[in-house]
Amino acid sequence: MKLFLDTGNLKDIETFVSLGIIDGVTTNPSLLAKEPGDYRDNLRKICRIVNGPVSGEVIATDWAGMIREGHEIAKIDAHMVVKVPLTRDGIRACKALAGEGIRVNVTLVFSAAQALLAAKAGATFVSPFVGRLDDIATNGMDLIREIVDIYDNYEFTTEVLVASARHPIHVVEAARIGADVCTCPPSVIDAMFNHPLTTLGIERFLKDWEKAQAARA
Ligand code: E4P
Repeated sequence: MKLFLDTGNLKDIETFVSLGIIDGVTTNPSLLAKEPGDYRDNLRKICRIVNGPVSGEVIATDWAGMIREGHEIAKIDAHMVVKVPLTRDGIRACKALAGEGIRVNVTLVFSAAQALLAAKAGATFVSPFVGRLDDIATNGMDLIREIVDIYDNYEFTTEVLVASARHPIHVVEAARIGADVCTCPPSVIDAMFNHPLTTLGIERFLKDWEKAQAARA
């Protein structure tokens, strides 16, 4: 399963990409609004840091506006993927942009029916939001299972990109179900590293090593 970083923060992207575990980046207007500077420049810089797909979202809500912004986003860099919301205009824009060979990530997906529409429209990625579903007492991972089943039944090539991940269990479940990608904020990737027994193990190894060295001195 590919791991994407869900942030617009250049420093975080540099830090996590340097670990060699990041396959791409997703952004959205809320994430990019937090960062200083022009959002196009920031997307360009992100593309230079990560060697993989970088999603940038349209702001327009009408079909023509989405196509116009989609072209602008795609021009930023060959790594760019145009993110459009799952609306009628978004699906229409997805079909048109995909027809031109531009990769599209259909976002704000909360049902299997919506995911089916994204695949029909030729999306490269579909982004179901598991955390936001959990927030309203609906099991987000059940939706991932449904989408993976449906896409497998018909061999849709659209990749299931698990979004709105809030903790490592979401990532592990996504991998067990067979999702193609999970995008995570830096805090979730950090949490994936941590285990008290790893920390304790290193402490014990070092203590034993130092004890032995002192005895030999
Ligand atoms: C990813 O593409 C989404 O924009 C993101 O995962 C949303 O996460 P949130 O629900 O934590 O805002």
